[in-house]
Amino acid sequence: MKRIIPWPAMLAAVVLAAAVIGVAQRTAAVSAASSALQYDASGRLMVPRNYREWVFLSAGIDMRYGDGTAPPTDHIFSNVFVPEAAYRAFQATGTWPDHTVLILENRTGSTKGSINKAGHFQAGRLGLEAHVKDVTRLREGWGFFAFDGEQPSQRIDDKADCYSCHRANAAVDTTFVQFYPTLLPTATRHGTLSRSYLAHERHDAAAHRTGVSGR
Ligand code: HEC
Repeated sequence: MKRIIPWPAMLAAVVLAAAVIGVAQRTAAVSAASSALQYDASGRLMVPRNYREWVFLSAGIDMRYGDGTAPPTDHIFSNVFVPEAAYRAFQATGTWPDHTVLILENRTGSTKGSINKAGHFQAGRLGLEAHVKDVTRLREGWGFFAFDGEQPSQRIDDKADCYSCHRANAAVDTTFVQFYPTLLPTATRHGTLSRSYLAHERHDAAAHRTGVSGR
């Protein structure tokens, strides 16, 4: 005789399976993201060895954020990278999983070299900084690090302007998603843009309509 499973039981089984798969996917995203995150015995962040093989988010050139900063004399590119697992989790949820490491790599912009006649290409590395999400270890869940060569880095002190600028201006979870073109549409779709970023955008749009500069 054919056994018939009552449909409420079947529905419950499907819901349970979906929940288990969801948890498993989130756990996989966190553990894959964790492999990029290594501290030494005294709790300093190690330089992620293969960050150049991660997903490339964007390159800024000569970006200046403060009002009083002098115009650049030499050109600087800033390249941003994130591990693939964290990138995929962001595409699925609109925000970062725990243990995400974002790397900002600064390089000089060169003009003279080979057949180049105009424009700039990237040359030597000037600096390397990290922004890390680690909710159990870091205060407020995120920390900044600046590497000196290949040496591990201490977490930068809370009073540094890294924290205040990112907290006040960054579009998603203290990261500058407004400058990462493959992430901004995802965050917009998921409704994860920060209130301060949205307020700033509204202010700029209003200023544009009335012809007044918003900045
Ligand atoms: C006045 C604002 C400001 C300050 C201060 C600042 N940043 Fe940022 N930061 C930015 C902007 C804007 C970007 C996006 C850069 C790009 O697109 O190249 C960024 C991006 C980053 C990223 C890439 C990941 C992310 O969060 O978007 C890292 C890592 C980073 N900054 C580290 C630091 C560190 C370390 C300090 C302090 C020593 C610092 N920042 C101070 C504005 C700031």
